[in-house]
Amino acid sequence: MNISQTDTSHSRNILEQGKQSLIHDPLGGDEAKITLVRAKGSYVWDDQGRQYLDCTSQAWSNNLGANDPRVVEAAIAQLREITHARPNFNTIPLLKLTAKLREISPGDLNRIGYCLHGSLAVEMAMKLAFKNKPGRHNIIVLQDAYHGRSLTTMAASWPHPNNPFLPIQPRFTRVPHPDPYRPRLGMDVEMESKLCLRLLEETIHKGVDGGVVAIMMEPIPGNGGHIDLPLSFLRGVRDICDRNDIILIWDEIQSCFGRTGAMFAADYFGIVPDIMTFGKGISGGFPLAGILASERLTGFESGEDALTFGQFPVAMAAAVATIDAIIADDLCGKARDHGAFATQRLHEMADRRKLIGDIRGPGLFVSLELVKDRVSKEPATKAASEVYRRGLEKGVLFGESRYAGLGNLIKVKPPLDCTHEDMSHALDVLDDVLGSIEADGIA
Ligand SMILES: Cc1ncc(COP(=O)(O)O)c(C=O)c1O
Repeated sequence: MNISQTDTSHSRNILEQGKQSLIHDPLGGDEAKITLVRAKGSYVWDDQGRQYLDCTSQAWSNNLGANDPRVVEAAIAQLREITHARPNFNTIPLLKLTAKLREISPGDLNRIGYCLHGSLAVEMAMKLAFKNKPGRHNIIVLQDAYHGRSLTTMAASWPHPNNPFLPIQPRFTRVPHPDPYRPRLGMDVEMESKLCLRLLEETIHKGVDGGVVAIMMEPIPGNGGHIDLPLSFLRGVRDICDRNDIILIWDEIQSCFGRTGAMFAADYFGIVPDIMTFGKGISGGFPLAGILASERLTGFESGEDALTFGQFPVAMAAAVATIDAIIADDLCGKARDHGAFATQRLHEMADRRKLIGDIRGPGLFVSLELVKDRVSKEPATKAASEVYRRGLEKGVLFGESRYAGLGNLIKVKPPLDCTHEDMSHALDVLDDVLGSIEADGIA
């Protein structure tokens, strides 16, 4: 591999000009300084030839490691046939993928719609819910939710600081959820779960005008801090939806396709929502997202939901190959094995590294909360940024939580097919980095 071939002074100038003109500061973080040129499996390389072990799976999307040859070949074969078809037409990969998703979907979630981004999949889910509950006006979401960055999904997420878009965003009703690590008033987790369910039901009856269409939630709030919602809460919400004829939407964009150690979090928890969103891990790095909806729901009519590139055949061919590979390589099993190893190592580490306050799963949905001390649980946000920075210097990309949550979460979420050596190396680096941060007195 010759990474430096792009590194001429001419192209450097062009790259610099390009950088200066970008309108987005992606997350205002250190990644913006890195220009990636190549990815393979669990690794990415930058234009300086530096190699990084990617424990972010590029926004938790490369469940199957990057550039898997089966996916690349399927995409190239599709490129040679047809790359674009407007959504009025069917294509072969569209129909193949739909049949495949139907085969693996939980319960009766057999009606399937597509788009290219998770945020739009969430919008599609909300539109379908409204269509099926005419005359009602509200969607209830959880306080620490993250559902995307389109105008509507941003409003459905955790309150954005100094939100400049508020005047043109719809309003959502946010309800509290249990947080086993920081329970309210020192309650035990089951008591807090009951309290939150009671508050939810009261909100449905007394807290909104105009009736509730849906409750929308992530089964594991991801960007909001990997919150470990107890099963009693997840089951209780399902029950409340059933009793009140309300649609339950699970946003599985981050938890789908093996990340939890099951194909979907719905399988992991044994709960079937009425509509589920998917995205990220489905297509081996190609843009694709969508919804799985219950057969009981009425679908869209012409013109209600159609996007020019919404059924990108290349991404769909890549998705068929990705799902086949996830099944053939037993990536759900690998997520469970790597996850068990990682959490065991992290617990051992926690005996020595006092910064570690909590360790979370399941599967390879792995994270740790850093705290200034274990009694106050005050978030160690500076330490978390340092983990990211020092990890980068040592060639490992760790995830951080920067949207909602407390800013002190470190995510260790490499591709599910990473090797045991890579997993072990990432944890060695984390241990090392935490040690050096503690020695420097940073919290
Ligand atoms: C749970 C959840 N929903 C929605 C989204 C938005 O997806 P996208 O960035 O593809 O629009 C994300 C992305 O992080 C997510 O984690």
